[in-house]
Amino acid sequence: MPQHIAIIMDGNGRWAVRRGLPRTAGHRAGIEALRSVVEGCIEHGVRYLTVFAFSTENWRRPKSEVDALMGLLVEYFDREIVRLCREGVRVRIIGEREGLTEAVREAIESAEDRTRCNERLDLIVAFNYGSRAEICRAARTVAALASKGELDPETVDEANFGSYLYTAGIPDPDLLIRPSGEMRLSNFLLWQCAYSEFWFTSVYWPDFTKAHLAEAIAEYRRRARRYGGLGAAPGG
Ligand code: FPP
Repeated sequence: MPQHIAIIMDGNGRWAVRRGLPRTAGHRAGIEALRSVVEGCIEHGVRYLTVFAFSTENWRRPKSEVDALMGLLVEYFDREIVRLCREGVRVRIIGEREGLTEAVREAIESAEDRTRCNERLDLIVAFNYGSRAEICRAARTVAALASKGELDPETVDEANFGSYLYTAGIPDPDLLIRPSGEMRLSNFLLWQCAYSEFWFTSVYWPDFTKAHLAEAIAEYRRRARRYGGLGAAPGG
């Protein structure tokens, strides 16, 4: 069973355009899909779910769409926090807080505070997140510590470099899901997905259901993860 699933919630815009609706209606429908996937993860005993909700590149979209996505985040926590608490979900946000409005920052901090003690599922929302920026930020921290003599550069290795990333303490994703027919990482968890299994579907995110989640997990369980080695001997 995957312990950590990461999802690029893609295809909201196309889902909406196909129905003659504004793109923001697709994002709103995407929230419904997220709700059922959170439930599905709990049912499968998945411990961590990371979703890509807003990338550092999404600022390039029209202001109206950016504003709508910011508003949806605030609304999502407003509406869902009681349910999330009841379900034992801990909310964590990864990404750059700088540049977000006060209202968005407050919504994020309140959701994190109110769910801090929950232990069933960690819902990690990547918001204003870009993986290369995350890695650069970690490198700057390491360089600053080294220049102050607080860190020996020789001691930096693959295990402890992760502790400077937003995802410090969170195990790497076992399974990465991308709907909507696109097959790329789009600057999402580049370091963390080094050995993740990928699963793609042409379904747009608002149409993604628990059944798709179950299908992805079933496929994951059929995969042999070898981490560069030869894996277990047949029957072993
Ligand atoms: C990608 O689809 C999706 C996004 C940029 C936003 C995802 C956001 C949500 C599902 C709702 C907000 C989530 C939370 C947790 C509040 P796209 O717009 O790039 O779709 P397209 O490729 O069809 O244009």
